[in-house]
Amino acid sequence: MNQQQQWKRMAAEAAIAEVEEGMVVGLGTGSTAAFAIKKLGELIQKGQLKRVVGIPSSLATEALARQCGIPLVSFEDRPVIDLTIDGADQVDPALNLIKGGGGALLREKILAQNSRQVLIVVDQSKLCQKLGEGFALPVEVLPFGWFPEKLFLASLGAQVTLRRGADGQPFLTDQQNYILDCLFPGIDDPQALDRQLKGRAAILENGLFLNLASRVIVAGEEGPRVLQPA
Ligand code: A5P
Repeated sequence: MNQQQQWKRMAAEAAIAEVEEGMVVGLGTGSTAAFAIKKLGELIQKGQLKRVVGIPSSLATEALARQCGIPLVSFEDRPVIDLTIDGADQVDPALNLIKGGGGALLREKILAQNSRQVLIVVDQSKLCQKLGEGFALPVEVLPFGWFPEKLFLASLGAQVTLRRGADGQPFLTDQQNYILDCLFPGIDDPQALDRQLKGRAAILENGLFLNLASRVIVAGEEGPRVLQPA
């Protein structure tokens, strides 16, 4: 395991220490969240965490959670998540995030918006001064309207790429939608951009997670440390 992987695991396992008996846990998507899911499964299987259930943020996470023996529920069963543990692609100093590198941003945002606490786990490479610098904002679009939205996003100053899978075909989200990866020269006003994107009918969600993180655990050379919003 390389150093970045070790840091991801360190952050993820520090987050699992915050899971308490009886909690509903939101299970994030991506390589860092996967470390948390594996650790959670281990503790549940050993009987060290009782009556904990999970709500997964993607089909991939659902499969991993089942494999790890984590009991799963739906929002119909348990409408409020106690603690969501998820990764991120970028974290700015105000703890606003870009997510969706793995394409699960829509379900991840649904989990985050319905959680009492959202704990983000990252290695130190994810910290940035300004969102969007060096990382393309993922935007989930309805296939019917993807091309006009591509033109709209380009008119806002982004270099827009339709995400494709290894087979060269458009990547499909769990909801069978497309992802437009939008590289801005840095996002000066994330709130304003978020509002603009919400006004477009074929844009289902975007990867800006603003004021949603309760805390961020970041791991690096000095071990894990916790960042709180100011
Ligand atoms: C999934 O859609 C993303 O939001 C992930 O949480 C994000 O890409 C972080 O992934 P890693 O933990 O694999 O870096």
